[in-house]
Amino acid sequence: MTGIDHPVRAAYLAHAGQEAVLAEELGRLGVAVSGWHGLLALSPDPPADARWALDRWLDPEIAPIASIGEAASLLRGRQRNWSHLPLLHHRRSALIADRLPPVKAAPLHFPAAAPTAPLGAWTLLSPDRLLFSTRKSSPFPNGECRLVENRTGPPSRAYLKLWETLALLAEWPRPGERCLELGASPGGWTWALASLGASVTAVDRSPLASAVAAMPGVEMRQGNAFTLRPEDVEPLDWLFSDVIAYPDRLLDMARTWIDSGRVRRLICTVKFQRPTAHEVSERFASIPGGTLRHGSHNGHELMFVWCRPGDSVPHG
Ligand SMILES: C[S@@+](CC[C@H](N)C(=O)[O-])C[C@H]1O[C@@H](n2cnc3c(N)ncnc32)[C@H](O)[C@@H]1O
Repeated sequence: MTGIDHPVRAAYLAHAGQEAVLAEELGRLGVAVSGWHGLLALSPDPPADARWALDRWLDPEIAPIASIGEAASLLRGRQRNWSHLPLLHHRRSALIADRLPPVKAAPLHFPAAAPTAPLGAWTLLSPDRLLFSTRKSSPFPNGECRLVENRTGPPSRAYLKLWETLALLAEWPRPGERCLELGASPGGWTWALASLGASVTAVDRSPLASAVAAMPGVEMRQGNAFTLRPEDVEPLDWLFSDVIAYPDRLLDMARTWIDSGRVRRLICTVKFQRPTAHEVSERFASIPGGTLRHGSHNGHELMFVWCRPGDSVPHG
């Protein structure tokens, strides 16, 4: 798409493969989409809280540019850090990007919080039209959380979506904190939590990988995660769930634990089938203290994060 003859007041970046679910959600939110520019949905409406967007551009502007130098100086004049969304006109875009200050490109070494420096985003709509936004929802370039992976410890790569979620929360279990993890096998999340020094009770119908089960602080309970009641365990600092279950069943489970008052933090993967049960995500999002987001390590799923109101203890 090249010609845009209306204001753009927000833009939503879809995760590749999740364009349709984002479009559906924007429709439910009453957000008009005037067109797609690659994975970026442009809207004439003010920014809305679209949970399936990997990144949201919150104050977009369109500027005519006569030259590469003009585009670069316009962006540099607004702020230091810019992430480039390369969609079209690659050579011209690369020449503009070369004239901007480099954005720290090193992957995040967890445990570490997501960056907090202001970061904008830009792309070329056509060779002579720049779309840019000084503010966006994700602290990562194009919403992509790059992490230094551990290729020997964890038995699955599922830990990456947990690390991404904890980095964005800027909190993670501390040594000795009590965690219960539902749907833990083969043990990627358990490995990540035990590596932080937390005490983890892992529940699954299937066993943990033996090396994870043997980590200090790990206790395995083989069985059904849905029959475990909050009163069956000591009060928890953290409840984690990566159980594969229907979203409404997970919602009931999350509410049971939250209402029990016996848990301070809850992090849960909400896995969706097709068609996507948007009404369930809306019910999750309406829980006070809760947020719901799609991250760059998620498939057709959202991460629900809940903190007991007034109980936030940021890492020093
Ligand atoms: C996506 S896997 C979890 C992966 C894990 N987070 C990791 O990092 O390795 C989902 C797990 O949920 C478990 N599960 C599904 N339904 C369950 C139930 N009712 N009770 C206990 N575990 C269940 C499955 O056995 C499976 O191991």
